[in-house]
Amino acid sequence: MDFTDKVCLITGASSGIGKAIAIELAERDVILILISRSKEKLEKIRKEIKNKNTSIYPCDVVDNEKISSIISSVTNKFGKIDILINCAGFGIYEPFIKQKDDDVRRLMEVNYFGIVNTCRQVVPIMIRQGYGHIVNVSSMVGRIGFAGYSGYCASKFAVSGFTESLNEELYDTGVKVHLICPSGTNTNFFDHPSFKNHYHRRFPKKLTDPKTVANAIIDAIEKNKFEVNIGFLESVFLKGKYVFPNLFRWIQRVIRRRRGYK
Ligand SMILES: NC(=O)c1ccc[n+]([C@@H]2O[C@H](COP(=O)([O-])OP(=O)(O)OC[C@H]3O[C@@H](n4cnc5c(N)ncnc54)[C@H](OP(=O)(O)O)[C@@H]3O)[C@@H](O)[C@H]2O)c1
Repeated sequence: MDFTDKVCLITGASSGIGKAIAIELAERDVILILISRSKEKLEKIRKEIKNKNTSIYPCDVVDNEKISSIISSVTNKFGKIDILINCAGFGIYEPFIKQKDDDVRRLMEVNYFGIVNTCRQVVPIMIRQGYGHIVNVSSMVGRIGFAGYSGYCASKFAVSGFTESLNEELYDTGVKVHLICPSGTNTNFFDHPSFKNHYHRRFPKKLTDPKTVANAIIDAIEKNKFEVNIGFLESVFLKGKYVFPNLFRWIQRVIRRRRGYK
């Protein structure tokens, strides 16, 4: 696929996976529309990638009105949206009994409704165009339940279910839908205080490089892959969950105890 002059909107572009995709796509001469809350971080990335076709829009994905006005100004300017990559999100690692209700709701608002908000605006545009790619970044934790992640898991399971449904609904419209499920990736994700002493904080070298996830996303777009699971062990787990569910849960518990997960 030739990405030149494709209009690509990325949420969560100021760091980690979203930033890595922005860098990869900038090299392919894409027209980039970058969204995240921090104007300073977005400005820094715009300078870093040196792509003259990059616009930044500081915005919280929960703010539906602002998302709507950004999409309007993008379509007014370029007349189309080719690719939407929903990457904005965050995680909290805490046993259910310690989780605050407000945190659980915020996880759902940002991780799930943030995606609903952008899709609400962009899907009708892409249906009218008869083409486009919607990429939703879920997680392996959006396919497999892990201890300590109930709020985050629920938000990512919601993303996976939403995306799977959307893929079926849009199947004959020319709009392609992609569900990306990364495993632990070396980004600022684990900076959240709840991850203090987490295995991934202690062993960051075992995490996937965000560039690998970015390339997997580009590959999914180019080859029209619906679901991409990233991480060898987790991908085996995912298959095992359906084929040998009890064995899978036993292995999961052994690993959890070894790694000291909650
Ligand atoms: N890292 C992992 O192990 C991992 C694994 C599986 C899935 N994921 C998913 O991958 C996605 C990207 O995470 P990451 O690992 O790249 O983490 P990250 O480095 O912390 O990046 C998160 C991005 O989301 C933006 N963001 C957070 N809340 C937002 C909001 N309310 N509105 C707009 N932007 C918001 C952040 O920018 P601002 O702070 O500027 O808003 C940042 O650009 C997330 O959906 C995450 O759940 C991560």
